[in-house]
Amino acid sequence: MTMQHFLTLKDLSQRELETIVKRAIKLKQEPQQAMRAELKTLGLVFSKASTRTRVAFEVAMNQLGGSAVFLTDNDAQTGRGEPVADTARVISSMVDLVAVRTHAHSQLEEFASHSRVPVINALSDDFHPCQLLADVQTFMEVRGSIRDARVAWIGDGNNMCQSYINAAAAFGFSLSIACPLGYEPNSQLLKENSHCARLVDNPAHAARDADLVVTDVWASMGSEAEALQRKQHLGGFQVTQDLMAGAAADALFMHCLPAHRGEEVTADVIDSTASVVWQEAENRMHSQKALIEFLLS
Ligand code: CP
Ligand code: NVA
Repeated sequence: MTMQHFLTLKDLSQRELETIVKRAIKLKQEPQQAMRAELKTLGLVFSKASTRTRVAFEVAMNQLGGSAVFLTDNDAQTGRGEPVADTARVISSMVDLVAVRTHAHSQLEEFASHSRVPVINALSDDFHPCQLLADVQTFMEVRGSIRDARVAWIGDGNNMCQSYINAAAAFGFSLSIACPLGYEPNSQLLKENSHCARLVDNPAHAARDADLVVTDVWASMGSEAEALQRKQHLGGFQVTQDLMAGAAADALFMHCLPAHRGEEVTADVIDSTASVVWQEAENRMHSQKALIEFLLS
């Protein structure tokens, strides 16, 4: 049997993804229903900063009765050049699951190919599938279902945008993406998902009648050196009250966080009643707990 990893949403079937999200909604209401994972350990191997993803995994694991071990490049031998394959072999011989946050997605794939236990993508340069479990959970909690919803992505065609494309295919919503020239998501990914995701020419067009408007930072981790240039190119791709006014009357706003008020989103949008960002952040814990349960059982 092949190892069940979670490197992108495509690693699981539509049915499995829906089961995890529904389970997350259930576990939020009835946490005592969760499986017991005593003596189970989750390794967290992070090469980039994190607040939500790390806390969500550590708290979820604690609540299940297991434990988590957190490593960064500052304190592990990964920072001194130990090969990914060797790290994967060693860590996976001692823990039951590993969540890896890294730069190139190929590093994550390499880690997974040498791991004896399931590997979770805790964010790579290309995808952030854990965040999508929480986003879909949040939309379903507020609106009941995300099937056939209209979702607008505004800004950088980054790891979050690319996971939204996979989510559109898996959960059956339609995604309109507005990005500046040169900041589009992967063209092959778009082509494969042209039935549910499309590029449009400007933010107003993407947001028109949308049920959900989503954005993310202009400079992701690893792109800090381009921050100034990105600010210039992405300046017109800000989620404002004006943009939200063109969306559906009850449109929601989401952002994976951390956010930069006054850049990709104005304060009056992220701090408005349309914004569900705090519920979205809390749901990281519930959805990652459901994911851990799924991968351990
Ligand atoms: N949204 C998200 O992944 O946040 P962190 O970088 O804080 O984990
Ligand atoms: N696109 C952002 C998401 C952070 C959670 C980044 O990769 O830095």
